[in-house]
Amino acid sequence: MIFPISLRKIEGRHSGKRTPFRLQSCLSYLYFDGSTSNAHARPKGWDWTEPGEGSLRHFRGGRMKLIDHDVCGNQRSREGLLTGSPLVSRLSHSPWGKRPEKKDTGTRTRHWHSSCHLRKSLLKLRIMDFLTSTAILPLLFGCVGVFSLLKLLQRMRMRAYLQNAVVVITGATSGLGRECAKVFYAAGAKLVLCGRNREALEELTKELTASQVTKVEMHKPYMVTFDLADPGAIVAATAEILRCFGCVDVLINNAGVSYRGAITDTTMDVDKTVMEINYFGPVALTKALLPSMIKRQRGHIVAISSIQGKISIPFRSAYAASKHATQAFFDCLRAEMEQYEIEVTVISPGYIHTNLSLNALTADGSKYGVMDKTTAQGRRPVEVARDVLAAVGKKKKDVILADLLPSLAIYLRTLAPGLFFSLMASRARKEQKSKNS
Ligand SMILES: NC(=O)c1ccc[n+]([C@@H]2O[C@H](COP(=O)([O-])OP(=O)(O)OC[C@H]3O[C@@H](n4cnc5c(N)ncnc54)[C@H](OP(=O)(O)O)[C@@H]3O)[C@@H](O)[C@H]2O)c1
Repeated sequence: MIFPISLRKIEGRHSGKRTPFRLQSCLSYLYFDGSTSNAHARPKGWDWTEPGEGSLRHFRGGRMKLIDHDVCGNQRSREGLLTGSPLVSRLSHSPWGKRPEKKDTGTRTRHWHSSCHLRKSLLKLRIMDFLTSTAILPLLFGCVGVFSLLKLLQRMRMRAYLQNAVVVITGATSGLGRECAKVFYAAGAKLVLCGRNREALEELTKELTASQVTKVEMHKPYMVTFDLADPGAIVAATAEILRCFGCVDVLINNAGVSYRGAITDTTMDVDKTVMEINYFGPVALTKALLPSMIKRQRGHIVAISSIQGKISIPFRSAYAASKHATQAFFDCLRAEMEQYEIEVTVISPGYIHTNLSLNALTADGSKYGVMDKTTAQGRRPVEVARDVLAAVGKKKKDVILADLLPSLAIYLRTLAPGLFFSLMASRARKEQKSKNS
């Protein structure tokens, strides 16, 4: 491997006498041999190898040692400090001797020839040095420029995609849904806000219309109230949603309920309710809106799933099951809808600081009513909402919005399932113990 380095100044030791000299005019490269036997070479050993000419070693603190041969083939060495930019290296002084006198023959001449060969290669390196030192900055600026331009184009495309788009958000009364309403509204979307609580929706609408966003044209949001656990209500709600702006461009299936309980204690009614709200409700609404999207060959379906749609945590069975089902359904939908140019995005957030754990159902169907520590320490819903906006704008297919640990757990479940299962079993034991005590 070649590592160009800078040798701006090196203090030389020659023939036992310490002679300071500058190294500046030619480029040299360090070749990393990867396996140094030099105990002093830290952090790594470096060798500069112009065949037969010498070697350059890198010491801790930037001290260098140069070993070469004089024209008579005697080994000599210099030590010095390595300073300057790590990109280019320069040597001022060619340490490889003068042209031998005419009478010189044999070893001296051979060494002189090898010095000439070295000078030629140094000239080549100097040209390369010039090219790299002059080209590197424009290249760097060029890359930054192209990157910024691409980002700008992406932002413009995203803005155009969402501005004036009809966006339906379920569960807009609280938490993530409420924040999504704000960010999509600010992006110029025409909103249809859905929820069970009319008052909460009215309050949100007032807040939105009172907000001062001047960059884009704003549209007064519509409200549609219905219960996702009631299949009959969904049919009527779909007709109402379509009447608001005449079509739907983006449907965000956000509404959901969580669950806390042991499988052995949980009634089937609770399992069914969680599945109705988190799975059958969004599926029914999506199916009801799809024909109008297919007709227009335009549309975007978003499912707010969860990390628990990818891995299962003990005492969350119904919730994890409903989110796994959501992931599976919308993955299938994505494949089937591609021919109609309908986008499908599944978003899997980690913990968000919302009322989700407060509203969670327990084994007997009552409300859990506790703000879990994990939920309280979760991300701010507004940040997650911005990520949702970006994911929709960029037409992403599957997005994980979680910290490192939950994301790693997903890989662990795939790559080392045995380890993942024993970790979950130990978590279950601990939780059970703390419940019993
Ligand atoms: N918070 C987290 O840590 C977290 C993590 C990953 C994924 N998520 C997902 O994010 C989504 C939003 O949850 P959140 O955190 O914002 O919780 P949230 O504050 O409790 O909001 C849940 C929303 O869903 C609505 N909803 C519940 N049951 C409904 C039903 N039967 N019919 C219609 N709407 C109903 C609620 O409306 P009401 O006001 O009428 O109850 C509320 O607007 C959920 O799908 C959740 O699974 C949350």
